[in-house]
Amino acid sequence: MREIGLGLIGTGFMGRAHALAFAAAPRIFGTTLRAAPRLLADVTMASAGHAAKALGFARATDDWRALVTDPAVDIVAITSPNHLHAEMARAAMAAGKHVYCEKPLATTYADSKSLAALAGQTSRKTLAGFNYLRSPAAVLAKQMVASGELGEIHNFRGGFAEDYMADPAVPHSWRCRRDLAGSGTLGDLGSHLLCFALQLMGPIAAVSGALQTIVKQRPLSDGTMAPVENEDQAQAVLRFASGAGGVFDTSRVARGRKNQLWFELNGSKGSVLFDQERMNELRVFRGHPREGAEGFQTLLMGPQHPPYAAFCPAPGHSLGFNDLKTAEVAHLLRGLAGEEALYPDFAVAAEIDRVIAAIERSAAEQRWVEIREI
Ligand SMILES: NC(=O)c1ccc[n+]([C@@H]2O[C@H](COP(=O)([O-])OP(=O)(O)OC[C@H]3O[C@@H](n4cnc5c(N)ncnc54)[C@H](O)[C@@H]3O)[C@@H](O)[C@H]2O)c1
Repeated sequence: MREIGLGLIGTGFMGRAHALAFAAAPRIFGTTLRAAPRLLADVTMASAGHAAKALGFARATDDWRALVTDPAVDIVAITSPNHLHAEMARAAMAAGKHVYCEKPLATTYADSKSLAALAGQTSRKTLAGFNYLRSPAAVLAKQMVASGELGEIHNFRGGFAEDYMADPAVPHSWRCRRDLAGSGTLGDLGSHLLCFALQLMGPIAAVSGALQTIVKQRPLSDGTMAPVENEDQAQAVLRFASGAGGVFDTSRVARGRKNQLWFELNGSKGSVLFDQERMNELRVFRGHPREGAEGFQTLLMGPQHPPYAAFCPAPGHSLGFNDLKTAEVAHLLRGLAGEEALYPDFAVAAEIDRVIAAIERSAAEQRWVEIREI
């Protein structure tokens, strides 16, 4: 097995998920390439050192710039807050490293576009962290679209709702600041849904969007209140280049919703419904088997639905969120080994940010916005 060096930035929710996935992917997927955990960066030496020990990294640093230029590092994984992605990815590419960056790629479309352009000029490879594409049910839905089983798809309806900021007492954080997060739920959650929309339906031609901030201010640690500068929920009507229509909805304040990333595709021969909160199922409608008995069928995921079999030989025993990250890292390793084309790379991630910018402009100017205007 060939080995390259991994440098990981960040040790929060995603930092830990990446570290676990890099450790597991070669064993679970039998990849020909492995990324050895060589250097871990966080804000302080204490947090970096503690996490490096817990997650098996050889060294730790409190200086991400030292990490991206370290000769032992071949691939840089970026799991810091959004506003740092662009600067870190740019520096890593300039140092000749492959880059695996969490979504959203950047806080502005201008930055995303320039990162995609930079990525296009180097022989180094990029991947953005849209892990839900790896869900076996989502992979099956994509296969059904590609095979023509559902006929011509004329409608994409979907949403991504959570309630992690529904409580007004949730403190102010980087997620509420325009300079640190960029958009609100659009970039955080909506970007995942747009990734599915682009993958399954092709390019988006125009959008008509609306945004709302429901909790207008949140408490700081000293008890004073600070304004929330980006949207809590957003809606958009989509027009795809194919002529198909779509409806998009996202919220971080939808009480009771924990990971409701869903889409339904309606085609001339059938429909398919995916819901990440029930990620081990796919609901399919394939016409009328018997009059009076038509309806959606629920397919339970099993080893015949990639990448399920890599994890478990028994059907219906279920995969989980971290397995999606492991499958994403396996794809990354195969891509770096030249065995697969990486998707979604920075060019796709920038296109997602472009649609987000179009939804924002449409909401601000209260009109349909063509994507080519952005
Ligand atoms: N793909 C997904 O499903 C998914 C899920 C959650 C978050 N995310 C994305 O992952 C990113 C991180 O989110 P999170 O929930 O892990 O956040 P988090 O707050 O849990 O972790 C962020 C980490 O970055 C570190 N950090 C901050 N500034 C740094 C610096 N200057 N140098 C080095 N490290 C620094 C923090 O100390 C922390 O360890 C965000 O961009 C978010 O959108 C993706």
